[in-house]
Order: sequence, then structure tokens, then C-alpha cells
Amino acid sequence: MHLQGIDSVVIETRSREYVESRIRAGVLEQGTVNTLIESGIGERLQQRGLLHHGIELSFNGRRHRIDLHELTGGRAITVYGQTEVVKDLIKARLDTGAPLYFEVTETSIHDLDTDRPRIRFHHNDQQYEIHCDFIAGCDGFHSICRPAVVDKLQIFERVYPFGWLGILAESKPPSKELIYCHHERGFALFSMRTPNITRLYIQCAPDDDLANWSYDRIWQELATRLHSGGEIELKEGPILQKGITPMRSFVAQPMQFGRLFLAGDAAHIVPPTGAKGMNLAVADVRVLARAFATYHQSGQTELLDAYSATCLRRVWRAEHFSWWMTSMLHRFPDATPFQQKLQLAELDYVTSSRAAATSLAENYAGLPFDV
Ligand code: PHB
Repeated sequence: MHLQGIDSVVIETRSREYVESRIRAGVLEQGTVNTLIESGIGERLQQRGLLHHGIELSFNGRRHRIDLHELTGGRAITVYGQTEVVKDLIKARLDTGAPLYFEVTETSIHDLDTDRPRIRFHHNDQQYEIHCDFIAGCDGFHSICRPAVVDKLQIFERVYPFGWLGILAESKPPSKELIYCHHERGFALFSMRTPNITRLYIQCAPDDDLANWSYDRIWQELATRLHSGGEIELKEGPILQKGITPMRSFVAQPMQFGRLFLAGDAAHIVPPTGAKGMNLAVADVRVLARAFATYHQSGQTELLDAYSATCLRRVWRAEHFSWWMTSMLHRFPDATPFQQKLQLAELDYVTSSRAAATSLAENYAGLPFDV
């Protein structure tokens, strides 16, 4: 929007330190990378991002590679932490001199059913009121924007009977590519941030306590789940951060009411298995920024009117893909032996049929942007 000459005010309840250090996922689709580069914030990403041409699936004592690059006609993913994207965005914003307020409190939204909605908030003991043309609610799952219109929305939700224990460790990643492990003790994922920082996840109970996960237990569980796919060197190292993430699928629609537009986690959540969360958020704001730009230049509202429908098509595809990956790879506490066999049959199929592998690959690498 800044590049299009459109003024905006950004308000955030958390501190800059908090949003820059809260570890989230780190897989960027090509379309996301291109969007960041086009927006002029791709420099560090291009220097530090790790280009991956494939991922591995481990099950039944073997590892299988899905060649994303070959199966999608040359697409790839870039491993670059969401925290790094956030740092790049904040720096770019501050460089423009345009307003960005951290640690705002007492935020409230008013007059949403008019064409001049207002936002009120406190910052540094001062009261502010913004008279808006539009409000973009990019305020995450614990949004204050969504509740303001929740009686106008339809909610779809599924909560999974497990969570992910995520750790960030100072150790060399055990593999050059991500490894998704299906294991009878539960799912595990081997990812990375840099050539010396590993990002790892272990399926755990949704209400598990971090205190149950000692250093030794974490490394032992990771080794068990990883090594069943063949010998590979897992290097232990200091754990820099750990946390438990619940898993849910969630969509609130439509993603617009009047002049309020919801984007990213404020409107939808995917379980992290398909690595789609941040990519969907970028896809939403890409559509929204173009719609604002068209309105700003010509007064035409077609793209704004189509915002929700345009985004939801991609959102529901990603909802399905993330649910499917999650269902195929996790141990469900109430699964019958029949369901467990079906899971393995599905894994066997996606790693032996080119058609099935291509379907996984094109969803994982990211479907093309329409706009
Ligand atoms: C991560 O690196 O944090 C990551 C990678 C792939 C996923 C989820 C998280 O599916």
C-alpha cells in the first residue's frame, strides 16, 4: 500500500521485541517469496533463505523423497523464519516513516456499519482515534476485529486431539531437507532455520505440560521417531526455545463486513503440517492490497467486493491440504487398526504414484496466485 501511495496506520498490541522473537513456522511458497521481493523487502530473504527442492516422508522404517521441483515444473520452497519476515516488514515500515504503534491498549472499533469506521486506542498514555476508509483486521486468531462482526460470520472449526511440541535447537540439521515422520509413537518433523539451527516438532497431547519434556526425553523421542526411517545423524544441542502449539482448522466467513476486511489468522487457521499459515496470510493481503490500489486509483469496488470469495477459494484448498497432511501423518488416539492401515496405504500411494506425489507437491509448493 505504501508503494501505491496509500496512507495507513498500523497498530499492534504486542511489543516489537515480542513479535520479532515469537517463533512460528518458516516455509515460504514461491509466490510468497515473489510477493516479498516485489514489495522491496526481499533482500535478506534472498541472502539467507534456504532454497529446498524437495521434502521427505518417513514411515514404515523408510524415508521417501518428494521432489517438489521436478513434480511442479520447477517450483521450490524457501525456508526462512516467520520472525525474519516480521523483522523485514517492521524495518521497511519504520524506514518509510509512516505510523506504526506497538503496545497499544484499549483498542475498540466503532461504526462498522457506516462508510467511516473508527478505531480508538491508547498509546503511551495518550488516546488516539483514527477515522478510516477501511480497516484490515490482520490481528491473528485472538483478533479483536473478528468478534466485532462475529454475528455476521459463519464459523467452521475442527480441533485435533493432539498438539506439537516445538523446539529450536543449536545443532546441525540432520538432513538438508525437511523430514515429516509418521511413527507409531506419533508424528515428528525435522526442519531448520540456518545451517546451525534446527527446528523440531514432536506430536504430544494437546494439554501436555512443557515440564513433562526434559532435554533427555525430547532428544530420545526425536531419535526414536527419526531413526525408524533409516540411519541418520541427529546431533543433540542446547535447546534455545520450546513451546506447545494446539492444532486446529478454522474458517470464519465471509472475510469481509462493510469496510472491515479480515486477513490471515484472524479469518482462518490451518494446522501447521502443510506449512500454509503464513503463506495464506500473504496471499490474503496481496489480494487486499491490489483491491485497495484499484479503488484508490479508479474508485472501482469490484476487487474489494470479490475479496472474500477470491481469498476463500485458496483458503479452503489449503484447509483441505493441511487437514489431509495432518490426518495422514499423526497418530490419532482413537484410531482403529483399520484406520491405521488406511494411513499407511495413503503414505505408500503418495510416495509411489507420480500422480499422487504431484498432487502433494503442487499443494505444498503452493498453487499459483490468481492476482
Ligand atoms: C518450521 O520450520 O517451523 C515448519 C516447517 C514445516 C511445517 C511446519 C513448521 O510443516
